Order: sequence, then structure tokens, then C-alpha cells
Amino acid sequence: MMGSSGFTGRDVISARDFSRVDFERIFKLVDGLEAAPGSMDGVLGGKLAALLFFEPSTRTYSSFQIAAERLGMKVTGFAGPTGSSVTKGETLHDTVRMFEGYGADVFIIRHPKMGAARFAAEITDTPVVSAGDGSREHPTQAMLDLHAIRKAFGKVDGLKVGMLGDLRYGRTSSSLAYALSNFDVEMTFIAPDSLQMRSEVSHFLSRRGVKPKVETALKNVVGSLDVLYVTRIQKERIPDPTEFEKVKGLYEVNLETLRDAKPTLKVMHPLPRVDELSTEVDETDHAHYFVQAAGGLPLRMVILNLVLGGAS
Ligand code: NCD
Repeated sequence: MMGSSGFTGRDVISARDFSRVDFERIFKLVDGLEAAPGSMDGVLGGKLAALLFFEPSTRTYSSFQIAAERLGMKVTGFAGPTGSSVTKGETLHDTVRMFEGYGADVFIIRHPKMGAARFAAEITDTPVVSAGDGSREHPTQAMLDLHAIRKAFGKVDGLKVGMLGDLRYGRTSSSLAYALSNFDVEMTFIAPDSLQMRSEVSHFLSRRGVKPKVETALKNVVGSLDVLYVTRIQKERIPDPTEFEKVKGLYEVNLETLRDAKPTLKVMHPLPRVDELSTEVDETDHAHYFVQAAGGLPLRMVILNLVLGGAS
């Protein structure tokens, strides 16, 4: 890991590794790219990105792929375990070694097991960018989430941010909480007890002097929030199916549950949504999730360019 201002060659594994200065630098570059959308086209011509997705993905895969291609990179790898040798039992270790041999300049890895991205980073000198690591971390999602918050409010400091849903098994909310802890934000974790934020996240936050509020029901806090970050119940990650049955359908954000919300409240969601966020919210000024998702492309272009030492 390099110092906080040096991005070249740096692994992007955990949102905990990024400081406020880092985030501000990233946002400035994303702002610049959004103002001049063609300005980074082709700057990484001749480089190779290996996208190794051991778990399904739509947005994250395509946005990394398009980002790499816009930067002029060639893209190789696989978009999910089916159709790759992963189904034959090939390990992460061997896959990384093999693509290293093909000349990969960066690895973009999504894996169902926590710690997989860190493990990959330990066995290769090529930079590794996590595209989702088990139920623990999704650092570039946190960066794009922060960017979307900043875009809506012009700032991050001073906001009240509620995170709703499966905070225990969802990796986006923990990464977002780590990222937000660099700012003066009041966080509220809204979830039934069995899906509340994992203790390692709360411990990290308290070491930074951040003490989020904890709530079980959205209605108790909805009126005070500036941002409501909704997440899906991670059915595939909940170890016991009977536990899933207990929480299934427990919350839904819709016009009724948003009745007491501030008119300026922004509803965010990393997507995909299942039944926790009604499509009726799409037509309101609260809906911010498609803007949020669209920001993933410039954000990932900026990250790849920084890590690969391109002009900034
Ligand atoms: C999330 C993920 O994969 O963690 N999706 C995404 O990358 N936008 C959220 C989820 O799957 O619920």
C-alpha cells in the first residue's frame, strides 16, 4: 500500500484504506471527467484488464468493462463462474497466476468468499481492484455512492444518512459506512436485529469516534434523513434458509413509508432491487438510484486510471 496521495500500483480492497483526501481527489477527477466526458478516452491504450468475476454481476461487471474499454484497455476474463474453468474447480490462485502470465496490468475481482481480493493482492504484484468481496466490502461501490451523495447535496458533511436493510450480509453498506466515517455525517443503521451491522464495522467506526444510531424501524427516523440507502436482503449469503424466511419481505420503501420524509430526501440503492424498494418511488424526486448507478462508469474510469498511473 502506498501513501494516501500515491495511487499508482495501489490495491483497492477496502474502503477503510482510503482517507478523506483520497476521496476528495477521486471526486475532483470524476467531476472533471463528467464535465469533459471524452477527456480520458484511450489514455490507457495497450494495457490489459483482467475481469475475474466468480459471482454474478450486471452493473459492476459492465461498468468496469466499459470503463476499461473507454480508457483504451483490452479486457479479458469472465463475467461469472459459468462458462469458465471455475466450474471445473480452478482456484483463484491459479486463475490469477494464469492471467498474470497473459500480461494483465490490473485484476478486477469479484468473489463470494470474503478476503478473496486481499488474498489475490498478496500473491501478485499487479494491482487488484475488488469488485465485491463476500459479504464484507465493495470499495468502488462506496466511492460511487459517496460521489452520488455529493452530487445531490453539493457536500457530504452535515448530512443525516440512514442505511436500511440487510446491513449484516450486504457488503455495500459496510463499505459505505467506512467511507462516510471520513466525513461529518450522522449515520443511522436501520435493520431488524438479525440483519444489523456486523460488530467489526461498529468497532472500526468507534475507533474513529463515530457512533451511528441504531434503529429497527424506518418510520422512527424517516422524517429526519437526507439520504436513505436501501439494500436488498442477501438471500444467497444468509447461512440458514429459515433465517431468511423470518426477514423476507420485512420492509419496503414506497410512497406510504416515505410520507413523512423531507421533500429533499434522496433514496439510494446499490441495485439490484427485489421487493424492498417499490417502483412507485421511481417517479418521485426522491429517486436517486439510477443517477447513482450511472456515476459508476466515470468513477471506475478514474480509479483504473489512478491505479495504472495514467495522467490525472
Ligand atoms: C451489490 C453487490 O453486488 O454487493 N450490487 C452491486 O454491485 N451494485 C448489491 C447487491 O447485490 O445487493
